[in-house]
Amino acid sequence: MVDAPPWCHILLLLLASTVGFLRGTVAARDRENRTSWGEIFWATADGKTDVLWSAPEASTEVVGDDSNPDSNAIGDDDVDGGFSSLDGMLQWAIGNSDPIRLKEKANDVQRMSADELEARRLQIKEVIEKLKMPSDADLMRIAINDLNKSTTSLEDRQRALNELLILVEPIDNANDLNKLGGLVAVIRELENSVPEIRTTSAWVIGKASQNNPLVQDQVLSLGALNVLMKMVQSSYVEESLKALYAISALIRNNNNGQALFYAEDGCVTLQDIMRNSMVDIRLQKKAVQMVADLADSQLENAVPSEIPLFRSHIFLKSVINLLSSSDSDLQEKALIAVGSLLRLPYTEALVFKDPCWLDEALESMRERLTGLMASDEEREFAVDLEALRREVHAMFREKLEMVSSAPVCRFFGNVVGGGP
Ligand SMILES: *[C@@H]1O[C@H](CO)[C@@H](O)[C@H](O)[C@H]1NC(C)=O
Ligand SMILES: *[C@@H]1O[C@H](CO)[C@@H](O)[C@H](O)[C@H]1NC(C)=O
Repeated sequence: MVDAPPWCHILLLLLASTVGFLRGTVAARDRENRTSWGEIFWATADGKTDVLWSAPEASTEVVGDDSNPDSNAIGDDDVDGGFSSLDGMLQWAIGNSDPIRLKEKANDVQRMSADELEARRLQIKEVIEKLKMPSDADLMRIAINDLNKSTTSLEDRQRALNELLILVEPIDNANDLNKLGGLVAVIRELENSVPEIRTTSAWVIGKASQNNPLVQDQVLSLGALNVLMKMVQSSYVEESLKALYAISALIRNNNNGQALFYAEDGCVTLQDIMRNSMVDIRLQKKAVQMVADLADSQLENAVPSEIPLFRSHIFLKSVINLLSSSDSDLQEKALIAVGSLLRLPYTEALVFKDPCWLDEALESMRERLTGLMASDEEREFAVDLEALRREVHAMFREKLEMVSSAPVCRFFGNVVGGGP
């Protein structure tokens, strides 16, 4: 016999008397309310309460049937350790109990007063309700199952995705997603004909991949990046936003993801977004933030492989132009990106200087910030941004000086490199 925890013996004895009562109340509650979890109103697409953990309607006569060969078999499909049903828990308790000690406990119980018995009854009720809480893995399985079925309505599909959006937030759940077939199911929804469904799917993928190298690699190897890149071009702005968010989460600090992104001409996409003043400003913020991330990532590599576009004056100008945006958050993000690009050894100071007019852009930024410092509301922000602006300006001067101290090498280096 495996040693059962002590509560188990008591539980077993009292279950016989309480189980009928509990089963009645639990089942009734489930019928009315289904199962709620956090803020989610939980239900499956086919309208059943659930298929995974509801108490079966079978009789409670299992008590005393300790010859049941299946008594240790529960929990087999239980990746996360809960009891799948009341009967399961009972059987486990029976399977793990010593008959002699059970008898002793039975005598103890008989000595309990009615009040004590009632207190016990309530305690057990609590334990059982806790055990009956569906686990996150159960909930994910239900949502994925709904996505898997072709008969699931759009409304239910959307709801399943909304549920996953919340469920994948804890990293353990995100790590389980692929095991349960969830990534395949969500990636499939990226190609749904309904933009809202595609949008939420991209969002789920972004959330699950965020700071999670395991999920990043799983999603990348399922080929989702290519689909997401196309979604960025959507005329439905929420879809472009969530797709770009997902891409950024997928490739952040992930060399393989970044290589794929460059191969898909991702930087051209970013450039298009930054240059297009008609585009939603949130997209521009995300794009310029990705530029900074990508440049920083390159710096961390021992030998940064050159991204030709980062040397192009059109690309650099698209970043520098955002320094004069009317949105100060966007200005700040652009400034950070300019700093990161300046730090790359292969970007050329003279390109920042001449066709991009970085000096002028930084100077007019200084003037605007000086103005802002006079206002009480924005003073603190303006002071911080001005400190950053100076830092970037100093970096730029330094990079220029390096060129003027070795102009011949720089120029001839490039000419010879590109010559016959
Ligand atoms: C659903 O459950 C909550 C809390 O468990 C309860 O307050 C509410 O009355 C229930 N609703 C119905 C319709 O039973
Ligand atoms: C969903 O379908 C995939 C195959 O497309 C399968 O591997 C997975 O187990 C299914 N998951 C659920 C919970 O139905």
